[in-house]
Amino acid sequence: MTSQTKIRTGKGEGEAVGIALLGFGTVGAEVFRLLGENADAFAHRIGGPAEIRGVAVQNKNKLRPGVPKDLLTDDAKALVMRDDIDLVVEVIGGIDFPRELVLAALNAGKSVVTANKALVAAHADELAEAADNAGVDLYFEAAVAAAIPVVGMLRRSLAGDQIQRISGIVNGTTNFILDAMESTGASYADALAEATRLGYAEADPTADVEGHDAASKAAILASLGFHTRVTFDDVYCEGISNITAEDISAAQQAGYSIKLLAICERLRDAEGNESVNARVHPTLVPKEHPLASVSKSYNAIFVEAEAAGSLMFYGNGAGGNPTASAVLGDVVGASRNIVHGGRAPGENTYANLPIADFGQVYTRYHIDMEVVDRTGVLSAISALFAKHNVSLRTVRQEDGDGIARLIVVTHTALEHEMQGIVEELGQLDDVKAVHSVIRLDGGQL
Ligand code: HSE
Repeated sequence: MTSQTKIRTGKGEGEAVGIALLGFGTVGAEVFRLLGENADAFAHRIGGPAEIRGVAVQNKNKLRPGVPKDLLTDDAKALVMRDDIDLVVEVIGGIDFPRELVLAALNAGKSVVTANKALVAAHADELAEAADNAGVDLYFEAAVAAAIPVVGMLRRSLAGDQIQRISGIVNGTTNFILDAMESTGASYADALAEATRLGYAEADPTADVEGHDAASKAAILASLGFHTRVTFDDVYCEGISNITAEDISAAQQAGYSIKLLAICERLRDAEGNESVNARVHPTLVPKEHPLASVSKSYNAIFVEAEAAGSLMFYGNGAGGNPTASAVLGDVVGASRNIVHGGRAPGENTYANLPIADFGQVYTRYHIDMEVVDRTGVLSAISALFAKHNVSLRTVRQEDGDGIARLIVVTHTALEHEMQGIVEELGQLDDVKAVHSVIRLDGGQL
């Protein structure tokens, strides 16, 4: 059982909801604009006016057209604690400072809407506990895939189902880069440079290209989908910076696209014991799978549920407007509860399943290597796979000058066995290089 028992009474129909907006970057500015321009509609949807009563920024002297100067403050904590603030909207980013502000708000009995995936993925337990203790709401729809309403879908629409698996493209920057590599034959470096030029990739692209951003989102999706706390540190994470133009073209020839997938999976061992695994890594997706056709910077989340079957959610996963849409949906939900009383369904980690180590996961592999082209090489390699209980599905050889390129696709195999194979392949004299080992995934398709 969770502790969501505290009943909150509402302020009453027609009463205003006082909002503190923390942060005025691309998302904050859109939230401010849309809430102001559509004030009447929001008042109808909520049951009372939603009033932004303060905007916390770093530099309150910077000109912000359309924002009355007296709303601006550089003291976010004081704004959060003001008596006329009922709801705090956090769109600052980072972890430590927003954590302090969000906890202060929740502990003071104010509901919170945050777009901050890193904060939620690292500290969901203490935030949820603070919200429960105070009987207020903690909403974070914008933290995963911005405009795609996947958090609400897992929390509410699929609350009656059993989620088996969630696999998604949850990072637009890396999808843009991989898509550009596939459609133009560009190298990783050139595609990244293009993504930076067009404003998709940040000046320091590490969080996106190394998969950290997607790993935060995977932690949130797995926690909601499996009713089990999964944090950022529980997620195996591998980014796309080692993917080469040769990997992309080998994948294409074999009928796959390479996507950076966040995969959240319910595992069941031979005795029927369940556990969960969450991971992020480049993945070969069959061209006929719906995720393979997600191009440019779009996001998509493919959910496999026991009763619902397969569902796919597609759309804009980043940007000021799409993120503001998700934030404002949460503002309406949280404000309704402030006006009318009650709480939204919150965190529920009752299942508390163990987190399976990545080594225990079964998947398929595409291995691209260079071997000496002489009698017996293939049989030595297949013996190594057999020793690790990994069955080969296809082996393709391209002849070179005394050297052959060997592309092996396996049947489903245990990750830790595959890691053992890769280590031992490196020790075989006839194996000149293992260029890539890319996991292959098609869900249940
Ligand atoms: N940087 C992210 C992306 C958006 O490229 O999708 C915010 O999570």
